[in-house]
Amino acid sequence: MKTTGANDILGTISPASLTDRAITYAIDIAKSIYRLTRRVQRTADVVNSEYNRQHWQKMLASKAWLGAASLADFLAPPDPTERLRKVDGRILRIDGQRYYRYRIEALSELLLRHAGNTQQIVELGCGSGHNLFSLHLARPEMVLKGFDIAPNGIAAGREIAGHFGLSDKISLDRIDLTDVGDPNLSAIAGEVVFTYFCIEQIPYDVRKVVENIIAAKPKRVINIEPTTELLDLTHPRDLVSLVYIRSVDYQTQLFSLLDRLEREGRIRILARERMPFAPSINNDGFLYCWEPT
Ligand SMILES: C[S@@+](CC[C@H](N)C(=O)[O-])C[C@H]1O[C@@H](n2cnc3c(N)ncnc32)[C@H](O)[C@@H]1O
Repeated sequence: MKTTGANDILGTISPASLTDRAITYAIDIAKSIYRLTRRVQRTADVVNSEYNRQHWQKMLASKAWLGAASLADFLAPPDPTERLRKVDGRILRIDGQRYYRYRIEALSELLLRHAGNTQQIVELGCGSGHNLFSLHLARPEMVLKGFDIAPNGIAAGREIAGHFGLSDKISLDRIDLTDVGDPNLSAIAGEVVFTYFCIEQIPYDVRKVVENIIAAKPKRVINIEPTTELLDLTHPRDLVSLVYIRSVDYQTQLFSLLDRLEREGRIRILARERMPFAPSINNDGFLYCWEPT
């Protein structure tokens, strides 16, 4: 299966209308306000329940990879649900399969542009390895390693790698990024590492996680995470994101912390940007690429 570039999508679909956006934003804000009344705190137990015991467990049980014709088909399965998504910086109403086909290419372009000249990349908080498998399609020669706290995510990722004959190229193992004594932190020494919507899940330990990563001496770090810190609240969609992020209690301090660490001379920030793609309207990722000094 051919992956899809932004031009393939932008050539066939017009940006979402003002009415479509207004209605979608209003519904999203209403849902977030309802969630806010329930005051969920994103503790490690909540994350374990949402991801390890539900999301990754369901994926592991489904064995969806067994029915896919190829790795690309597995990463972008048929999904006719059309919703507003961000493609190449524009808000479009498109189905899940077209979005995820485009995302394979867009994610790899984004990561490889910041990774520098490396043959190996490590993802921290990789879940079942969707991002690593996407990267593999763009750069099959690379050695890719993923770490996550969720045993069911790791088990699913290992089965997927085995099924597609990739166990020599893509490996997954356990890590708890909040634990300074975790034995697998040493695996990132000298490596190019990235996080992708992982630190969002650890709002009460952002500083600890960043300190643990710095202490492990990676070569370069690419953090791709949503936040409230960099939103422009003159834009309605960023207001929607602010209320959403508060309602699900995602992290809100990573990028200010990295800015502070740069002022203190402990890291050097090489790039700051906003991601041009997102599967929904309310949780754009921001990217900082940095190196310990
Ligand atoms: C939103 S998912 C993202 C997964 C993956 N990056 C992706 O884009 O498909 C967040 C992941 O962070 C992991 N995570 C949460 N707390 C963690 C911790 N303390 N150490 C390592 N991983 C953690 C969760 O288990 C979950 O798989």
